[in-house]
Amino acid sequence: MEVCWCLRFGAFLLLLQAPSCVTGEKSSCAPGFDSELYVFKVDRVHLHIGRRLGKVVFDDCTGRKRIVLDSADSRFKVDTDGTVKLKRQVTLHDGHKRFSLHAWDSQGRKHTVAVRVELDRPHQHHHHQVDLHQMDLHQPDVTEAVPAVPVLVFPKSFGGLRRRKRDWIIPPINFPENSRGPFPLKMVQIKTSYAKEVKIIYSITGQGADDLFTIDRKTGWLYVTQPLDREQQPSYTLLAHAVSDGGGKAEEPMEINVLVIDLNDNRPIFVKDPFLGSVAEASKIGTEFMAVNATDADEPGNANADVRYKILSQDPPIPLKDMFDINPLTGKIRVKNSGLDKEKIHEYTLEIQAADNEGNGLLAESAKQLLP
Ligand SMILES: *[C@@H]1O[C@H](CO)[C@@H](O)[C@H](O)[C@H]1NC(C)=O
Repeated sequence: MEVCWCLRFGAFLLLLQAPSCVTGEKSSCAPGFDSELYVFKVDRVHLHIGRRLGKVVFDDCTGRKRIVLDSADSRFKVDTDGTVKLKRQVTLHDGHKRFSLHAWDSQGRKHTVAVRVELDRPHQHHHHQVDLHQMDLHQPDVTEAVPAVPVLVFPKSFGGLRRRKRDWIIPPINFPENSRGPFPLKMVQIKTSYAKEVKIIYSITGQGADDLFTIDRKTGWLYVTQPLDREQQPSYTLLAHAVSDGGGKAEEPMEINVLVIDLNDNRPIFVKDPFLGSVAEASKIGTEFMAVNATDADEPGNANADVRYKILSQDPPIPLKDMFDINPLTGKIRVKNSGLDKEKIHEYTLEIQAADNEGNGLLAESAKQLLP
């Protein structure tokens, strides 16, 4: 006689610390700001009282929408919804201003985040205008700890005005996502051999130019201004330009590709909550009757997104504690032992773990239940 059994995955989704840093505390949420650095662009040096600069987001894991935030610099204030405004008039003397904001989570822990207010790059045609934002980049960044920043030289063009050979390959710049900065952070130096003969002005165009990426017009240093998120955009294509100071063209534009390198910043997430399944009482050992599935937003094909499944517990553990097993790769669940008896046990709950990094990384958890 075939009796239908239903499996139901319980609604809870436990998000755990990575096993390497077990704290004994299971929490579905880590309080904090959603960025390590906020960059707010402004279009003028003199900023007036009340001006809204931008918004920060702090999640204290209690679901509260309004949080008390404190600015370390009394000229700025933060509303409880995270909006950062000017409390007093501020002049960006050297094109930028940096300060910290504090927030306290429900455990009373203090969280600090950096805010950078910076003058956006003026429009190209304002030649007479001093480019404060760019000047700021000339200052050596003492805290910067980038080992060896690569140099990209414009490929030699043949006969000066003729197009360079099409098969020139410029190696992509690999840049890890979620960099902690400090920003702006040097990525690469663009160079042209003409720089020995004439004064060269460098510029960039393309995706994120002058926003995510800036170039020092004189030295050709290319900077990234904020953390990049591979899950948002995995690569950027920019064109680097070098012209002589007089305005004449010196080089054909050089294409620069920035590849954002994946970090394991996403946990697996079960695609359903709960999962439901059913199995016939008389099913043979080895019968596959359902599958679970968790997705991971990290780079496909990378260990960061390589999810493995495991049964953590079975409730009740009767007649044996391992009546089922799961294929770690596919999430398919099968009958492992005989003895399913609807008269005795009509519902099982299995707690399933999904972990990325081939089972050793970040965890998502779910439970399933067997229903009558
Ligand atoms: C898991 O779910 C995702 C998203 O719904 C889907 O694209 C993928 O094919 C599923 N994988 C399996 C093994 O069913």
